[in-house]
Amino acid sequence: MATVTSSGQIPATPDTGTPVPETPRWVPIRSLAPRHRPRILAHLLALPEGDRYLRFGHPATDAQIGRYVDLIDFERDEVFGIFNRRLDLLAMAHLAHMGDHARTHAAEFGVSVRPSHRGRGFGGRLFEHAMLHARNRHVDTLVVHALSENLPMLRIARSAGAKVHRDGGDAEAVLKLPPETLGTQVEELIGRQAAELDYNLKRGARRLDDLLGIIADVHAGVGGSGGLGSQ
Ligand SMILES: CC(C)(COP(=O)(O)OP(=O)(O)OC[C@H]1O[C@@H](n2cnc3c(N)ncnc32)[C@H](O)[C@@H]1OP(=O)(O)O)[C@@H](O)C(=O)NCCC(=O)NCCS
Repeated sequence: MATVTSSGQIPATPDTGTPVPETPRWVPIRSLAPRHRPRILAHLLALPEGDRYLRFGHPATDAQIGRYVDLIDFERDEVFGIFNRRLDLLAMAHLAHMGDHARTHAAEFGVSVRPSHRGRGFGGRLFEHAMLHARNRHVDTLVVHALSENLPMLRIARSAGAKVHRDGGDAEAVLKLPPETLGTQVEELIGRQAAELDYNLKRGARRLDDLLGIIADVHAGVGGSGGLGSQ
């Protein structure tokens, strides 16, 4: 089994045909805030056209994606992300609260995983994470709108117990959630703190990388100009 490295790095899929590493048992998933909008935008803009179609139900343009990101309501909704060591967003999910209808409190789940990091369980982990958060916020119904052709998304939803209704090219997966428990509250609390710690470690590692880069540049500059070393 592949593991997360000591610095919390998730290895990238090489382009060499090497087998995709298995998902580590625990994947740090962080709740995102308005300050993460630039990283969310970069992640979504990097999705190829086909993925934009799968994610938004239409081949969203850069401008439409920009508007979507600007309008995410972080007070009302939950947005989750999985970061690599450089703090690039590898995967993200948006749990949008739909409000109460006929004594049902529903939320809609949307997700995307960077193409190079698919098939290692990130989509499924984000779905599980969203289920936990939804339960703890008294959401009793999770809804996913997907194209009927989107087999990975429908598999994730079905594996969690969702019922899938197909209507031509569109599909709607509906998952009924049990109420929160003390266990779900504690699980969320521990997961949030662990993910926060992981993020801060990565941020520290990135600053150290940047600093080492600057020192290396200074050394190269000094050496190249025949400065200190040549006296
Ligand atoms: C859908 C998406 C999020 C899945 O992400 P992922 O990290 O690759 O998903 P996972 O690795 O957790 O799991 C995918 C599941 O689908 C299965 N799968 C993959 N390709 C499949 C296929 N062609 N047919 C059937 N099942 C497939 C995998 O085996 C896995 O199931 P398993 O865990 O039972 O083995 C990703 O493909 C994506 O970002 N797509 C573009 C955006 C999108 O479609 N969003 C969903 C609509 S909101």
